[in-house]
Amino acid sequence: MTLQVSQMLAERVPGHALPRAAYTDASIFQADLQTIFYRQWLFVAPACELPKPGNYITHQVGEYRVIVVRGADGEIRAFHNSCRHRGSVLCTKAKGSSPKLVCPYHQWTYELDGRLLWAKDMGADFDASKHGLKTVHCRNLAGMIYICLADEAPDFDTFADQARPYLEHHDLENAKVAFESSIVENGNWKLVWENNRECYHCAGNHPSLCRTYPEDPSITGVEEDGSVPERLQNHFDRLESAGITSQFHIAQGGQYRLARVPLNMGTKSYTMDGEFAVKRKLGNVGVDDAGPLLKFHYPTTWNHFLPDHSIVFRVTPISPTETQVTTKWLVHKDAVEGVDYDLNRLTEVWMHTNDEDREVVENNQAGINSPAFVPGPYSAIQESGVIQFVDWYCGQMSGDTEMKIAAE
Ligand code: FES
Ligand SMILES: [Fe+2]
Repeated sequence: MTLQVSQMLAERVPGHALPRAAYTDASIFQADLQTIFYRQWLFVAPACELPKPGNYITHQVGEYRVIVVRGADGEIRAFHNSCRHRGSVLCTKAKGSSPKLVCPYHQWTYELDGRLLWAKDMGADFDASKHGLKTVHCRNLAGMIYICLADEAPDFDTFADQARPYLEHHDLENAKVAFESSIVENGNWKLVWENNRECYHCAGNHPSLCRTYPEDPSITGVEEDGSVPERLQNHFDRLESAGITSQFHIAQGGQYRLARVPLNMGTKSYTMDGEFAVKRKLGNVGVDDAGPLLKFHYPTTWNHFLPDHSIVFRVTPISPTETQVTTKWLVHKDAVEGVDYDLNRLTEVWMHTNDEDREVVENNQAGINSPAFVPGPYSAIQESGVIQFVDWYCGQMSGDTEMKIAAE
């Protein structure tokens, strides 16, 4: 553990915002990357973005650049985006399609499964089989692609086995991306998460979202004793008895949470009028007022899976005070824009909400940048989710987790 991290953890008062350095300091940002982003499973993209062999996307996490590509055999794999010749980036675009991966520098040519196929004039002794692309761990969880940059990836199966029954209702493999938006928020990635994990700010900032999303912290929060309020339990029970996996579940260690929560009475989806946004529905939930399946998985994703469409969010730290937030709206692959859905109606609530969240996160960062900042207390009633996130983060950084990550 670096000195800055141990000082920050020693200064931290539980139940309070983190010390200023956690949100501003370059060495703590590096430690966040090393300890969390370079070791944990990271959501990268929905699988439906790569429907055909040769379809690829690229992504950058800290200093790592990654290619995620669908192979000729239909498998999705991930590789380091660095040529095994002299290291050039192989795929320079954010996404594309190519029958082989060809380095732009000297045209070394790789198969979609990473094997080196061709390299000009490398001599008789050259062994192409020793120069395949370096792989990145990659898993497809019911249509959500996760990668892990660590040499040895932590367990993924416990999470996958837990999440799969919830996600299978949403048929993400048969989705398409109707729209995507990527914004850079001028705030530390932890502020983006803290803001996401509470709705204390919703009434004052999210007029569009509040039409459908309940502000009630007992619905969207995390009770310290793990209890579930009666109204919420009734909702889970009603859906579970209809065969829809909905029960609140939080991981041991707190890295992820799953729960299908009710929207405001009489509303069905995130639209301005609360009606569905898409006629040709994605998934088989089949109960109009099932509400969204809420899923978060630290450190990169929160998601809302609705009975008619799904929204996936990806968080990527850029610098101590910049974070990219990418949002993708998924609809059934056969849904036709202008017939089954109107793009503006589908996206407007979360386009507004993202922009409102960007503004509050940026204001939060700007205030914390002042040397006068003193970390204040979280509301145990309204901000239980934030406390849960910050505890998880501090556990990761101190090595005090069920994963027993060794201190550096
Ligand atoms: S660096 Fe890729 S072919 Fe030379
Ligand atoms: Fe918000």
